[in-house]
Amino acid sequence: MRSLREPFDRARPDFPAGTPFWLDRSFDSLMRGFPWLAGVRSHLSSEYEGRAQIYDVQSSYKDHVYDQFFYALIRTLKPATCIELGVFQGFSLLACAAALRDNDFGRVEGVDLFEAYPHRRECMANVRRRIESTGLERWAGVVAADALGRHEGREADYLHVDLSNDGDIYRHVFAHWAARVKGVIVLEGGSAARDRVEWMVAHGRAPIVPCIKEIREAYPEWSIAVLEPYPSITVATRRPVQASPGAR
Ligand SMILES: C[S@@+](CC[C@H](N)C(=O)[O-])C[C@H]1O[C@@H](n2cnc3c(N)ncnc32)[C@H](O)[C@@H]1O
Repeated sequence: MRSLREPFDRARPDFPAGTPFWLDRSFDSLMRGFPWLAGVRSHLSSEYEGRAQIYDVQSSYKDHVYDQFFYALIRTLKPATCIELGVFQGFSLLACAAALRDNDFGRVEGVDLFEAYPHRRECMANVRRRIESTGLERWAGVVAADALGRHEGREADYLHVDLSNDGDIYRHVFAHWAARVKGVIVLEGGSAARDRVEWMVAHGRAPIVPCIKEIREAYPEWSIAVLEPYPSITVATRRPVQASPGAR
């Protein structure tokens, strides 16, 4: 079976699994283009409490230690209401919850089909047990539901979308969440190599790269950058409002 990360390794043989994402030039571009996220740097390489346990679960995010990104982003933005669509075994959810604990503020709700997902799936009870065994129940909870309808009646400061994403999911997320998210939307995927992974091509899934271009044009109030290392991550934040000269 071909590795899911094969298109990434072909494009960047100098960036194997195990290399921290922040050593890639796309991280420097993110830091340059989004100065309001500068605090992220100071929280990287943090051996936060419970990290070793979080690494017991499976996740493609582990290859380039993206838990450090979720952790650092939450530590920097200090969001109150966080939503994660697509939990699987809980890797990114637990990293987010650990940061909320260290902020002493906020809560994350994870939404997944769990047992009802027709492909590789996880039981909700297992994720609940992991939340409890890491002592994060105050900061995180999970619900079994279809994530694509979860926007109804909701608002969030931080939204993370990881639903085996494709371009159609990106379009759906911006159409339903752009007006409901106050801070940041983080979506798995976004690099050219991610559009070439085997299941995207085999199932004719809508590529994400052209869709990001469309979203940039349709939602100019959002700044969007992509972290390239596998599986890649799209980071969208609301552009801070510029004070007009003379405004108080
Ligand atoms: C790639 S995994 C999430 C990985 C996880 N965020 C991590 O850190 O490793 C994708 C998850 O999305 C869930 N999923 C896919 N479509 C969904 C939908 N429409 N509603 C809810 N969950 C969905 C699947 O059950 C699966 O657990």
